[in-house]
Amino acid sequence: MDLELTPEQTLIQKTARDFATKEVLPVAAENDQHKRYPKALVARMAELGFLGIAVPEEWGGAGMDNVSYALAMEEISRACASTGVIMSVNNSLVCDPILKFGTDAQKERFLKPLAAGQKLGCFCLSEPEAGSDAAAQKTMAVKKDGGWVLNGTKNWITNGPVADLALVFTMTEPDKGTRGITAFIVELAAKGIEIGPTDQKLGIRASPSSQIFFTDVFVKDDQLLGKPGEGFKVAMHTLDGGRIGIASQALGIARASLEDAMAYAKERKTFGKPIAQHQAIAFKLADMATEIDAARLLIWRAATLKDRGVRHSTESSMAKVFASEVANRAAKEAVQIFGGYGYVSDYPVERHFRDAKITEIYEGTSEVQRLVIARSLVKD
Ligand code: CAA
Repeated sequence: MDLELTPEQTLIQKTARDFATKEVLPVAAENDQHKRYPKALVARMAELGFLGIAVPEEWGGAGMDNVSYALAMEEISRACASTGVIMSVNNSLVCDPILKFGTDAQKERFLKPLAAGQKLGCFCLSEPEAGSDAAAQKTMAVKKDGGWVLNGTKNWITNGPVADLALVFTMTEPDKGTRGITAFIVELAAKGIEIGPTDQKLGIRASPSSQIFFTDVFVKDDQLLGKPGEGFKVAMHTLDGGRIGIASQALGIARASLEDAMAYAKERKTFGKPIAQHQAIAFKLADMATEIDAARLLIWRAATLKDRGVRHSTESSMAKVFASEVANRAAKEAVQIFGGYGYVSDYPVERHFRDAKITEIYEGTSEVQRLVIARSLVKD
């Protein structure tokens, strides 16, 4: 077992850390406060190859591996969790399934501009009544000459208000349950698509999300991703990768919480010494550091399995449930260490506390991750 990063992985980690420190962190609080989409940073991420990290160069990507993707996600999310998830959705939830299930023509037409960052993608699975129970899709696609007609509503669509392309999951044969779901690549400029108002959120406020309404939207046959009826497997496979991205986002938030709390604890004095020297605070820092390292190892294992082409559903769920809960504990302790200063927006830990929560909800709640893990334990 070798836990050393390769020279290429070290380089992407350093590039991401420099970018995050110099360009993302200085605007993170302001973008959060004004709920401002970081358009210029997304353009810079495109230049740096961060929007299609694990996509081969021939399809417009950076040609790196999934460990590199996890490293870059951690660094960027350490500075700004909103910027992190914008990147994660494009990489994991849109580029990755088109790379895996798309035809060469679809890769040429859709993947190349997405991976190069000329276009931005979103992932339309959740609905008003289909969240954890992803198979309860009500959005319908009905076959017509030369294509399909889509009708339905999608909810909580990260990047929805700013995306160009969407991966849309629809019910095509309701009698068949999970085997009756079909995925399409849809251009959001198409007739019949309406983007709802931007969601007003507790955290990750610089990452816009919204509902998307589909009314008699016509998509051609060549926009179907995979085969009819294979959509649920496309979605589940995609989320196996996406959960590595969200686990890395959570890790970034946890690290930000620890680093900010540590800096404060070394400065702030009570009872004649820096609070870091009080055991009550020092032990909190020790627990945060230990959990952060454990989360990182789970993430690297899941990413390594994905790079090897091995099924990693359980490992991704373990990484995501653990890292997201670590992020929430770390952010909570960071606020506690800052005391009253932690509760106001003058210091970043208040933002980390709000940003951490979503990592236990999206791309599968902690309950869904435990379900995936438990099923793998009890299956024959
Ligand atoms: N890879 C490939 N195939 C898979 C799979 C995987 N990881 N998981 C399940 N499947 C297959 C199964 O083998 C089964 O296939 P067969 O029909 O051939 O037997 C089929 O899919 C159905 O599987 P299940 O019986 O396990 O399905 P289920 O209805 O019990 O659901 C679930 C399982 C794990 C709860 C799933 O519904 C789930 O993951 N729910 C959470 C959805 C989610 O994460 N949503 C997030 C929305 S996206 C988002 O948040 C993006 C954002 O904005 C950032």
